[in-house]
Amino acid sequence: MGMPKHIAIIMDGNGRWAQLKRRPRTFGHIKGTRVAKKIITACSRRGIKNLTLYAFSTENWFRPQEEVSLLMLILSRYLKRETENLVKENIRFSVIGDLSRLPLDVANAIEKSIEATSQCTGLNLVFALSYGSRQEITQAVRDIAEKVAAGEISPAEIDESVINSALSTFPTPDPDLIIRTSGEQRLSNFLLWQAAYSEFYFTEVLWPNFTESHLDEALQAFAMRQRRYGKVSSNDNNHEKLPN
Ligand code: IPE
Ligand code: IPE
Ligand code: MG
Repeated sequence: MGMPKHIAIIMDGNGRWAQLKRRPRTFGHIKGTRVAKKIITACSRRGIKNLTLYAFSTENWFRPQEEVSLLMLILSRYLKRETENLVKENIRFSVIGDLSRLPLDVANAIEKSIEATSQCTGLNLVFALSYGSRQEITQAVRDIAEKVAAGEISPAEIDESVINSALSTFPTPDPDLIIRTSGEQRLSNFLLWQAAYSEFYFTEVLWPNFTESHLDEALQAFAMRQRRYGKVSSNDNNHEKLPN
C-alpha cells in the first residue's frame, strides 16, 4: 500500500512530559514545537504530500490563561523564525480553525507565512489552530443553508462532495493515517468527518519524545494495514455456496 498521501498528527503529551521533569507545562510546549519542526522536515523529505498538525483545539481555549498566552507566543515565534526555512524546503503553509479568536500578532504571523509560502509546491503543511471539527461542520452546514436560502442550490443537490467542499480542509484529501501520541485513544474533536476511513496509530510516546524513527514505525505499521472501505479484499473472492 506504500506511503500515506496525508498524515494527520494529534501532538499530545507535552504537559505530562514537562511534569515528569518537574518543569512547567510550557516547557513541554517549547520542546514539542522543536519536535514538530523535525517531523515536518522528516515528512517533507519522505515525500509525504500533506501533513496536518493539531496544534490547538477549540477546547484548549479553556486552559489557564497563562498557558494559552504562552502557547500563542510560542506559535508566533515559531512562524516568524521558521517561515524562511519553510520556503527553502518548498513547504506550503496553511491553517484550519477559527482564526478570529487568535491574538492579532499570531493572526498576522500566520498571514505572512501563508503569503510567503504560497508558491511552494512540496509538502502541504496544515496547522489546525483554534480548530474543532464540530465547529467546522456547524459552519459548513450554515454556509450550505445560506446557499439554499439564496436559491443557489437545492436541498436535493447536497451530497458528500458539496459537504466536503464546504469544510475548511478542502481541497486537502482525507487523512490516510492519523497518529496520536501520549497513549490517549480518542479524536478530541479532530477531523471527525474526514477520518471516516483513516487508519489510526496510537503510541504511548509523549510528543516531546517523538522522533523520526517513531514516525517510521508508524509508516511501517500503516504499510501493513489492509484498507477495505467496507468491501472485501481483492484476493478474497472465492465465496462458498450458500447452504440450501
Ligand atoms: C498537547 O499537549 C499540546 C496542546 C494541546 C496544545 P498537552 O498540553 O495536551 O499535554 P498533556 O496531554 O497535558 O500531557
Ligand atoms: C488534543 O489534545 C488537542 C491537541 C493535541 C492540540 P488535548 O490534550 O487537548 O485533548 P484531551 O483533552 O486529552 O482530549
Ligand atoms: Mg493533552
